[in-house]
Amino acid sequence: MEKLLIEGGHPLEGKVQISGAKNSAVALIPAAILADSPVTIDNLPNISDVETLAELLEEIGGKTELDRDTLVIHPENMFAMPLPNGRVKKLRASYYMMGAMLGKFKKAVIGLPGGCNLGPRPIDQHIKGFEALGAKVTNEHGAIYLQADELIGSRIYLDVVSVGATINIMLAAVLAKGKTTIENAAKEPEIIDVATLLSSMGANIKGAGTNVIRINGVESLHGCRHSIIPDRIEAGTFMILAAAMGKSITVDNVISDHVESLSAKLREMGVMIEEKDDQIFISGSNNLKPVDVKTLVYPGFPTDLQQPFTSLLTKAEGSSIITDTIYNARFKHIDELRRMGANIKVEGRSALINGGSTLQGAKVRASDLRAGAALVVAGLMGNGVTEITGVEHIDRGYGGLEEKLKSLGAKVWRENITGKELEEIQNS
Ligand code: EPU
Repeated sequence: MEKLLIEGGHPLEGKVQISGAKNSAVALIPAAILADSPVTIDNLPNISDVETLAELLEEIGGKTELDRDTLVIHPENMFAMPLPNGRVKKLRASYYMMGAMLGKFKKAVIGLPGGCNLGPRPIDQHIKGFEALGAKVTNEHGAIYLQADELIGSRIYLDVVSVGATINIMLAAVLAKGKTTIENAAKEPEIIDVATLLSSMGANIKGAGTNVIRINGVESLHGCRHSIIPDRIEAGTFMILAAAMGKSITVDNVISDHVESLSAKLREMGVMIEEKDDQIFISGSNNLKPVDVKTLVYPGFPTDLQQPFTSLLTKAEGSSIITDTIYNARFKHIDELRRMGANIKVEGRSALINGGSTLQGAKVRASDLRAGAALVVAGLMGNGVTEITGVEHIDRGYGGLEEKLKSLGAKVWRENITGKELEEIQNS
């Protein structure tokens, strides 16, 4: 087990290259199950979730070849192997195995997904969609059993705007008979990315990126080559740390439209931001203004940036309020920020940040992926050394993080956790 150490307080400068989007990758890999011939996915992020999903595809009889940021998936010999336990529990996105396996084999058994603990994360809308397409869905001993004689297109209205449900229903519907309409669909760029891959495989999908998606089922899907869009959350994380500590930072390989809600808030705080082609230039400021932020579905401010943005707000002189309307318990980073001297109160779904004082390095624990990102930002901002445990959460979503930070001039390194410290973590 490792921990990440950061000596804070050093100004950052230079250029950082953004990887392919994690939340696209974790849907695109299962989507390949639907094809009858090899699918090649380029621009993959170097993260543990990608490895876990490739291993899951091998468990169901697929062959995968991962070479740097390219994954070739051979789906020809895949079968409906039940996956009630094991790797599926490691990440939330294993729920996409449900839609893809149901679509292809008309049956699947998938253990209820793991992933970040952000409070209740039901999958009722996914199930509502599968049932509308004609599947019988039961929950037995913590695994979801799905079975259909045939899948027939249907009209599905999502009661909650859900990224996962929108993608999962698309996966199940592309090989169903007839027409499926998903109403009140999520509009995140990752949904368009998945629809683009499925279309290249021969699917007939219209309206991805709007709140009504129309799918006409086809008989079969073939292999193709697809390059993943840049990760807007990784880009946003680097924009936030650039705002906090950057003399002048270029975020390269970013679609500026995808981070518009963040750019607007940073500008409101007094950060200088310029956009040109696929690059964003940011100069940080020591005179940040406080702002109020509410997370919303895309194109609103993303919940996934709420946690790192909270760290930044501790630097702004005065009071800021950050409200998470998507998850009601995504505040586990706040206790850790308090250990570093932050003055933050949580009331219901809101965090009240009284900013202006410099954070102090401390021993902290990342409880989930974006909490980890928040602590990395805080560690870079703080005086002295911050030690972050729970690094495995960060590795699920940020590939090559240390190298990227080091290239900007950050003092960051890893150490093995041993002895008493390891015992304490294992017993906690
Ligand atoms: N919801 C339901 N029922 C459902 C599905 C969702 O009530 O059937 C609720 C959730 O509890 C939540 C809201 O709807 O309150 C939105 O959830 P959504 O389904 O959109 O989230 P998700 O698909 O499980 C993806 C990302 C998350 C990101 C959210 C919101 C992936 C693998 N995960 O999760 O990313 O926070 O959308 O944008 O795409 C992360 O990257 O750190 C992360 C957690």
